[in-house]
Parts: sequence; structure tokens; C-alpha cells
Amino acid sequence: MDLTWLDPEHLARRDLDGAVAVLEAARLVDCPHLPGTTVSSFTARLRHGWDGDPPVAAVARDAGGRVNAVLEVHLSHWDNTHLGFLEVTVDPIVRRQGVGRRLFDVGVERVRADGRKLVLTECFDQPAGVEFAKAMGLERASVAVQRRQDLTNLDWEKLDQEYVKAQSLAGGYELVRMQGATPEHMLADVVQMTEAINDAPIDDLDVEDEVFSPERIRAFEAAQLAHDRRIYRLVARERSSGVLAGHTMVGVENEVPGHGWQFDTSVLASHRGNRLGLLLKVAMMYWLREEEPQLRIVDTWNAASNAHMIRVNEMLGYQVMAEAIVWQRHL
Ligand SMILES: CC(C)(COP(=O)(O)OP(=O)(O)OC[C@H]1O[C@@H](n2cnc3c(N)ncnc32)[C@H](O)[C@@H]1OP(=O)(O)O)[C@@H](O)C(=O)NCCC(=O)NCCS
Repeated sequence: MDLTWLDPEHLARRDLDGAVAVLEAARLVDCPHLPGTTVSSFTARLRHGWDGDPPVAAVARDAGGRVNAVLEVHLSHWDNTHLGFLEVTVDPIVRRQGVGRRLFDVGVERVRADGRKLVLTECFDQPAGVEFAKAMGLERASVAVQRRQDLTNLDWEKLDQEYVKAQSLAGGYELVRMQGATPEHMLADVVQMTEAINDAPIDDLDVEDEVFSPERIRAFEAAQLAHDRRIYRLVARERSSGVLAGHTMVGVENEVPGHGWQFDTSVLASHRGNRLGLLLKVAMMYWLREEEPQLRIVDTWNAASNAHMIRVNEMLGYQVMAEAIVWQRHL
């Protein structure tokens, strides 16, 4: 197989264009409802990842030199250094010819070479991905569900009622809008709030808690800037103590202004039961209505087993769009 590893700082135009063309062709077959990958967004991914932990990536070529598949290997250095997460995407016009298997094997070797003992991957709940994962010897470890909120058709009256009800329980908290970089004096609190995401269910995944630090928060902010995303972070602050008790975040890409991604929502364990999750998310809709009136949809992912978050999302009008299965294999 003709394989080229990509150097994020010296990306050859042909590799980049070839990779993005394959990712787009695959998206139109596998998940046409999701926004696409552009050369800019793929470049940002290769240089910054989600929060300063970019994947190593390679493209495969056919005999004529055309890129026909993309491999991404995520080797986190912040935590979970026992595992590697693989993404293999094969051009729909060359599927079932063994390209995926060869690329997956290369990915496994890369994970092994890094001294890691576990491979994770994810696919939509569709025959190609599922049968492929089974053929690669992976086992189902978790199910994730993607839901979508249609902002053009929201029941604002219901949201207002829910908000008032939540406010009556959450009177001890005030909401703080934070856009852009976290002020230095709030960094420690933001780290702690972000850590609360570790309470989300992990099902059978053999993963460890994520580890956050001020450096990682700054790396996240730099990565979002590189992705050209506007980030909205809404925080619930306890009035009596000033403690940041919970937050929710939405990102809107400058080049895709009609679409938003719901990122983390988490409330510190000691502050749960005060309807802060619902309060934060409705208040975020109010904020977005002011700042991003063109926004039409917001997408979110949750573990299927995350009953609390899903209940809140369903109250906000989110509807199921797709399911994905997360797989793992011990090496
Ligand atoms: C899943 C994917 C990578 C497979 O790529 P591919 O090049 O077609 O896979 P291969 O030809 O190497 O198939 C390897 C084995 O997987 C299984 N398989 C792959 N696609 C299948 C399908 N559509 N139906 C049934 N089995 C399938 C088969 O067992 C196959 O072996 P066989 O052809 O000898 O029977 C490709 O469909 C894809 O890019 N899908 C979207 C992204 C994704 O879901 N990636 C998987 C997670 S990393």
C-alpha cells in the first residue's frame, strides 16, 4: 500500500486535498446530515486536534496516485496513554477491496509502537462500519447517540416555563457569560468544572478519567481559535461562595454559521439536583438567540446511557439523528 504520513507543519497540497475529498465523499454516504470537512478545518485538526492533542494521520493512494483512504491515529498525551483511537475512512468507490483492513492494521501497529495496549474506534450504526469493526476483532463497548435541536421550530413558551421552574430551585446561583479566553483568575475553577465530565457514563470502555490542567484549557482555546470557532461558555456560579458549579459550551464555526455544536455540559457533583443543567442549557438558547440569530440547528452527542443529560436534551426539543458504536480491542 502506498502510504504517506502527513507532517502537520508541511502539508502537501495534494495530500490535504486528497484526504478532504475522501472524507467528504464518505460523509455523503455515511452521515450526510452532518457538516462537512474543509481544507481549513482538516488542517486545524491536524495541527491542534480538539485541545492540543492532534492525531497523526496518513493517506493511502491507488496505483494512479489518487488518495483513496485516510487514517487518523489519536494518541492522547494528557491522559489515557494506554490507548490509541483509530479512524479509518475509505472512499466509497473502493470499499470492500481490503483498503480499510490494511489501513487499520497500519493504525494498530502505530498504537503498538507507542507502547499502548488498547485500540478504540467508533462507527455509525450501519452495516459497513459494524461488520468491519467485528472483522477487525473489536468488541462493542459503548453506544453514543447524536441528537439535533431545530432552532427554527423551538417551543419557546415551554422553554420559558421550564426556565422559570429551574430558577426557583437554582436561586443560589447566578449565570455568567464567558466568551473567548478564560480569565487567568478563573482558570483553576474552569479546570475543576471540566473534570466533572468524568462522571459521564463510560459503559464498558476500558478508559481512565480525563486529566485537565490550565495548560490543557489554554490548548483547547488555541485549538478552537485555529478551527475558527466562536465559543460560548455559560457558567453557573454559586452566589454565596463564588464557586463555579457548572457550565455548558456551544461552538459555532465562522464558515458554517447556521450550525452549532453542543460541547460539554457538566455540573460539579456537590451542586447537582438544583436544575442547573436545564437552567444552563435554556439560558444558552437565550444567549445564542441574541448573538447568533442565524443559527438553525445545534447537534449534540451523548452516551445512550446518560439518562440525565438526555432527559434535559429531550425537554429542549432534541431529536435523535444517528447512533454510533464505540469499539475496543486489547492488544
Ligand atoms: C468501514 C470501512 C473503513 C471499511 O473499509 P473497506 O476498505 O471497505 O474494508 P475492507 O474491504 O478492508 O473490509 C474488511 C472486512 O470488513 C468487513 N466489511 C467491510 N465492509 C463491509 C460491509 N459493507 N458489509 C459487510 N462486511 C463488511 C468484511 O468482513 C471485510 O472482509 P471481506 O471483504 O474479506 O469479507 C469503510 O466502509 C468506511 O470508510 N466507512 C466509514 C467510516 C467507518 O465507519 N470506519 C470504521 C471505523 S474506523
